[in-house]
Amino acid sequence: MPESYFRDKFRNAMIAMTFRDVILSLGRAEVEPEDVRVHTRVTKGREMKIPFVSSPMDTVTESEMAIALARHGGLGVLHRNCTVEEQCEMAKRVKKAEALIIRDVVTVTPSTTIAEALGLMQKHEISGLPVVDRDRLVGILTGRDVRFADPSLKVDNLMTRKVITAREGITIEEAKELLHTYRIEKLPIIDVDGRLSGLITIKDMILRGRFPDATRDDEGGLLCAAAISPFDLHRARELDRYVDILVIDVAHFHNVKVFEASKRLMKEVNAEVVVGNIGTFKAAEEAITKLENPAAFRVGIGSGSICSTTMVTRAGAPTLFATCEVADAVRQYRAGIPIIADGGIRGPGDIAVALAAGASTVMIGNLFARCKEAPGTLLTIGGRHYKQYRGMGSPSARAKRYALDRYSTPAKGLPEGVEGWVPYKGEVASVLQELLAGLQAAMGYAGAATISDLWEKSMFLMISQYGEAEASPHDILLPSETERA
Ligand code: XMP
Repeated sequence: MPESYFRDKFRNAMIAMTFRDVILSLGRAEVEPEDVRVHTRVTKGREMKIPFVSSPMDTVTESEMAIALARHGGLGVLHRNCTVEEQCEMAKRVKKAEALIIRDVVTVTPSTTIAEALGLMQKHEISGLPVVDRDRLVGILTGRDVRFADPSLKVDNLMTRKVITAREGITIEEAKELLHTYRIEKLPIIDVDGRLSGLITIKDMILRGRFPDATRDDEGGLLCAAAISPFDLHRARELDRYVDILVIDVAHFHNVKVFEASKRLMKEVNAEVVVGNIGTFKAAEEAITKLENPAAFRVGIGSGSICSTTMVTRAGAPTLFATCEVADAVRQYRAGIPIIADGGIRGPGDIAVALAAGASTVMIGNLFARCKEAPGTLLTIGGRHYKQYRGMGSPSARAKRYALDRYSTPAKGLPEGVEGWVPYKGEVASVLQELLAGLQAAMGYAGAATISDLWEKSMFLMISQYGEAEASPHDILLPSETERA
């Protein structure tokens, strides 16, 4: 052992850069901020129009947030602090929200009574029902057919028998054409034997037109991602039936048991699997060389606004530092694995810095927990509105026990997160707009027209505490402070 073995730990100490330590240096801008493009890749196989992903936390992402984010070009990751059935229900709601072809079609048979059919229409909030006889489509019953009908009649008496149908593989444009030509609202999809395999509705077509930037799956539904434990194969298999992306959700992925369990799990599922969280070059290197096809890396340990991991353990990898480490490993191995920079994002500037460090997207908890679509409760204090936000390692989140294995075994009794309140900001669509405009401005200053431009052209400037103070408004009393003074 060299004489200076322990002293070298200081001499060789790397700087664990955080978002507050750097700013972007200026670059020659060739496009105006509004023309800066931020389309990106969230996984190897999936693209998005905006680089924003929401955290799988029970005060951030359930179906409502996942639907809203996907509609606006981002992605939500459904949390796992619930039963498998509850998480699958959330995924089904996301998929149903805007599917081009509805797969679990509500149907009736010719012998169903009109009263029963009406009950089904009301319960599922739909205006028409395909009629099937031993899986074969024999008619369609619409709201118009039954409006003033005797409820004791049978569907067979009132259904429309001549149904306009389409085959699997129909394109959006062809479906639109048929719906328009025949002035119909529903288009059943049948297979070669006349069996009903799906349904296209005009309602879904209209919704589709409203969200041209949406993040979609191969069938045109909204893309859906869900968090899983590497040790819960049952949950992974069940979710695999509905979601496109599974996100392994552990605080420290670079762990022998987690690696082995993940290897097994990744062989079992069809969905793309995101691996994380990791924070070092070595962890990324091992994941690249030993795992079969990780779809993306979720990166950063201890930077989250509700994290107390680093405070409690004095161990971690701040998101910015972690992103640079992992990005270099990905580049060195030419692995082409997108990086999701997770935790500590307080605004568009931090997003720009994370992307400049090599990330393709950022994962956000705090800023999205403030929104209407987040599941946390809304509270009013002194006329101001707040929403609940808690770490998944906080005592109350742990009490639900489903996500306990996010943290290392001896730490199970040790809180690694806090809970509290964040100011209410209304709909996530307006928060996204603000983040996007700020990000475009930041990229404009850095002279980048796209995210890959930002990777190649941008440089960091280290900033001191004095610099950070100078970079914020100073030597002026702001209105809120005047009120207090
Ligand atoms: P922000 O800063 O957006 O970060 O609130 C969200 C990210 O924080 C992580 N997370 C935790 N980390 N203890 C931790 O150490 C926790 O209780 C906890 N809960 C969430 C997670 O990566 C999330 O995306």
